[in-house]
Amino acid sequence: MSSAASDVFPPPKDFAAHAAIGSRAAYDELRQVALADPEAFWAARARAGLHWFKPFGKVLDWKPPFAQWFLGGETNASFNCLDRHLTGWRRNKAAIVWEGENFEQRTLTYLELHRRVGQLANALLALGYRAGDRAIIYLPMIPEAAVAMLACARIGVTHSVVFAGFSSEALRTRIEDLGAQLVLTADYGRRRGREVPLKKNVDEALEHCPGVRHAVVYRHTNGPIAMRAGRDLEWAELVASAQPGCPAAHLPSEHPLFVLYTSGTTGKPKGVVHSTAGYLTQVLATMEWVFDLRDEDVYWCTADIGWVTGHSYIIYGPLAAGATTLMYEGAPDWPRPDRFWELIAKYRVNVFYTSPTAIRSFIRQGEAYPAGHDLSSLRLLGSVGEPINPSAWRWYHRVIGHERCPIVDTWWQTETGAILLSPVPGAVAAKPGSATLPLPGIVAEIVDAKGEPVPDGQQGYLVLRKPWPSMLRGLYGDPERYQENYWSRYPGSYFTGDAAHRDADGYYWVLGRVDDVINISGHRLSTMEVESALVRHPQVAEAAAVGRPDELKGQSLVVFCTLKGDAAATPELSEELRAWVAREIAAFARPEEVRMVEALPKTRSGKIMRRLLRELVTTREVKGDTTTLEDYAVLLKLSVEGKDEEEILGKN
Ligand code: WTA
Repeated sequence: MSSAASDVFPPPKDFAAHAAIGSRAAYDELRQVALADPEAFWAARARAGLHWFKPFGKVLDWKPPFAQWFLGGETNASFNCLDRHLTGWRRNKAAIVWEGENFEQRTLTYLELHRRVGQLANALLALGYRAGDRAIIYLPMIPEAAVAMLACARIGVTHSVVFAGFSSEALRTRIEDLGAQLVLTADYGRRRGREVPLKKNVDEALEHCPGVRHAVVYRHTNGPIAMRAGRDLEWAELVASAQPGCPAAHLPSEHPLFVLYTSGTTGKPKGVVHSTAGYLTQVLATMEWVFDLRDEDVYWCTADIGWVTGHSYIIYGPLAAGATTLMYEGAPDWPRPDRFWELIAKYRVNVFYTSPTAIRSFIRQGEAYPAGHDLSSLRLLGSVGEPINPSAWRWYHRVIGHERCPIVDTWWQTETGAILLSPVPGAVAAKPGSATLPLPGIVAEIVDAKGEPVPDGQQGYLVLRKPWPSMLRGLYGDPERYQENYWSRYPGSYFTGDAAHRDADGYYWVLGRVDDVINISGHRLSTMEVESALVRHPQVAEAAAVGRPDELKGQSLVVFCTLKGDAAATPELSEELRAWVAREIAAFARPEEVRMVEALPKTRSGKIMRRLLRELVTTREVKGDTTTLEDYAVLLKLSVEGKDEEEILGKN
């Protein structure tokens, strides 16, 4: 990737002239201030950025790996996203502009959003929910998802949004891990003209979750659903009888705002816990630094609220900043491949934030689609979720940004809460494929296996040396796993799980995961999660899942299975297994290819050698050290398109 590094795109003059941070010198000064005294720097951002019911005292309590920020302070995320915008002209500003897949439109002003959030919060209080309780939100991309999150935040109920594409099984494991008492859902979601049976999935999951007292159901499509008396409640009825005004609870800074499950290196998803004040402070700061947001902007992040990008950059960041955030229910290519461009033209979008996979799919569809729409409102473009290949970057710059808009390639993670590496668009020159520099207050480094910094240009592991306000506070109910996953490899430093290198200008080039997490279309998936799903199938004995580079999706999933007893390796079974994984986890996890083999390559201690399989699907050859292989012959039994032993095993 760095071979294309000679391309440099300085901030466009027009853009820089109007930007909040308009020169490299101004930006370097800001970074210097942050570096000199990070605690004072973040304390100032927190004081200026948030409304405090009670001011905080101590800025940071750091007992590695456990951080607490803004101690003694009391605030509320819902209040910061709503109430404080109601005292001035913003009260009638559009907070959420929504468009449904079937072209339906709704606009909620800050006043209207506040009213709806208050009603739902009061209804939840009336049902007995209080600060410390946990709610699962399993809703499509409709304004009610925002209402649900903000209503929970208002009364201190910790929410966990489960992506509406997840199966009932994935939903169940999250409900169980969180010990949730409440589920907020809808009858159906819409996806490419189909109706996704959300309530039915909830019903299936709740068969096994006796701890859930209520399921509140929003009628989105009005399709048929079953309602269980005593447990299931109609959203519309609940809020109709509730008062609109609900005072925001005064919550300690460290109150857990949400838990978001993400894939780790085991079969069990990790519940990443985020706080209230630290999270909001940093997310808000990045709205200014990275998106250079202005009050008159229409801002559009195309992520789903089920992922961290949706949390931080559709809901909490934009609303805390008093922005107008566009929310779109459907797929980018439904009903036509120009849906996104039509939306940009229709709502005069100024800031557009999407994923490299989406960009690559637009490239495939051709330039005629964007060319057919007026994209002149765009001022800034963003990318997130996976490395963006330089050619996709250039296409985005030329065809969507008309060589006028800077691009912010933002690197961050569910765990980091907010963007940590990104160009500041009015100040930092971009290089296609690089997330450029750490933002103010972020101390990043690239180290070798021993934790020693590597020379510039050399590949290593990306670590973060200092705590930051929006960092995860832990993994829900599992402090050991938190310690082990992120802090044990390099004690005192946070291990990101990403490989990267830094060039002579100090720019970071993030290359991708080094663990058993693969990234499909920007969605994180653990190979172990897929393997556990496969071995639940009655005919599968063992399974190994690996990622293969994919031009469109970044990576695609290939699985190897051995079968039980006399099960036959038929094309039908292969299809069935693909569908099985999609049903057990989510559609994005559907394997691209299933290879049924007689045995899997293992080490003497019985560990599956995924590295070999990865090489096999990537290069169709196997190199490297294979001396730990128990049985070389096993590899030959894998379908390697007629290559002989020497070719497969390389020259060892
Ligand atoms: C990858 C998404 C390169 C990375 C916000 C990270 C990126 C994982 C970038 C986190 C980027 C995200 N360049 N790689 N700009 N952004 N990644 O938790 O591997 O869904 O560790 O958070 O995505 O994925 P997650």
